[in-house]
Amino acid sequence: MALTVTPTPAQQEPSSLGTASIPVSATLAANEAMAARRRRGEPVLHLAFGEAGLPAHPMLRAALARAAGFNSYGPVAGHPALREAAACYWTRRGLPTDAGAVICGPGSKALLFGLITAIGGDVAVTRPSWVSYAAQASLAGRVAHFVPGPAGVPDAEQLARAVSAARAAGRRIRSVVVTLPDNPTGMLASPAAVRSVCSVAEAHDLIIISDEIYRDLVHDPAAPYTSPAVISPERTAITTGLSKNLALGGWRLGVARLPGGGLGPELRARLLGIGSEIWSAPAAPVQQAAALAFSEPPALAARVALSRRLHARVARAIALRFAAAGASVPAPQAAFYLYPDFSPLADVLLERHGITSDEGLAAVLLHKYGVGVLPGSAFGEKSGRLRLRVATSLLYGATDAERLAALNSADPCSLPWIAASLARLEEVLTDLGRR
Ligand SMILES: Cc1ncc(COP(=O)(O)O)c(C=O)c1O
Repeated sequence: MALTVTPTPAQQEPSSLGTASIPVSATLAANEAMAARRRRGEPVLHLAFGEAGLPAHPMLRAALARAAGFNSYGPVAGHPALREAAACYWTRRGLPTDAGAVICGPGSKALLFGLITAIGGDVAVTRPSWVSYAAQASLAGRVAHFVPGPAGVPDAEQLARAVSAARAAGRRIRSVVVTLPDNPTGMLASPAAVRSVCSVAEAHDLIIISDEIYRDLVHDPAAPYTSPAVISPERTAITTGLSKNLALGGWRLGVARLPGGGLGPELRARLLGIGSEIWSAPAAPVQQAAALAFSEPPALAARVALSRRLHARVARAIALRFAAAGASVPAPQAAFYLYPDFSPLADVLLERHGITSDEGLAAVLLHKYGVGVLPGSAFGEKSGRLRLRVATSLLYGATDAERLAALNSADPCSLPWIAASLARLEEVLTDLGRR
């Protein structure tokens, strides 16, 4: 399985391209591997790709069609209407925001790369954390320092130690990335954990990059949510986008909210410099439709609420299957991810399948059973830990009609196509862990 991408023969030859090479992101590579299996007519259960798995809302499709005539590049920071709408989106969430502090980009991924590059210095990231932070740090010529943390936020004490150890080794950690809520774990860090990281950031002068792309998909909307921007407003940049809450990944639209204080304008100037030389501006028609999305009219708020309900129900049903098979998995709190730990089954996995690593486990699931997942090592884990990242949202259906039926169902797991996937998963996991 293309969990780490197999180099093409050309890449295996001594390269004339210099030494550093970043492989295709593990998530995108796994998606392509699953598509290839499907094309060969082999059965697949695709749990490897974190796409929201729902159609674009008709109101947004119409807005995008109406905006097709917007063919100018426009300002690097983004169209004023979009920046204003994004500022109001954050203001409604208790983070008063001026449109001048907002920068738009072609996906929040590009903005994250821009921020890491603009800030400079090394980057602290959580172990485990989303595949791209460490890869982006490396692309920017920086070192990513993994610091353990269970839910997208590094453990504060270990973060402080990592900063000091890096300094003693002659490296300066300048930023820390947190993911609220988190991919790969599907968990939301507690306000206390966020506060502790903010204290370390204050003490060691770190800039916090808070990736909040899943914020609107916390399953329990009443769960306490604390952005570090509330606690440390002058050292926190937030990124978000429309890829997850409104399932618009292919539109490639993200927004960043820069810190207040003296840092904001400096970071803004640097990020605009980077954006101006790489993407110029996000696609103009998409920006028009995105301005509508960030204004959150009731129909779109209702769509996000329905998708939250769907993600919660299916993720929970899948978590129960993993738990029943003997893996240890906390109840998912957000988005469409689970992070089961197969170490309780380590002996049987070794005896029956010869599995000694998370990559081995993912490979057996793919090649023996046609189930695509990602190994925890794609997220910075040690591969002996037998953890997997399971994305649950591509089970909603093969057509828009099925996906909409899932979205509108109070009991999506009883729909025949979702029930069939759940039954297949149960069968696979039972066989995998059979003693
Ligand atoms: C944690 C996290 N951040 C950022 C992104 C990228 O989102 P975008 O589509 O806005 O580039 C993803 C997408 O998988 C993600 O999981």
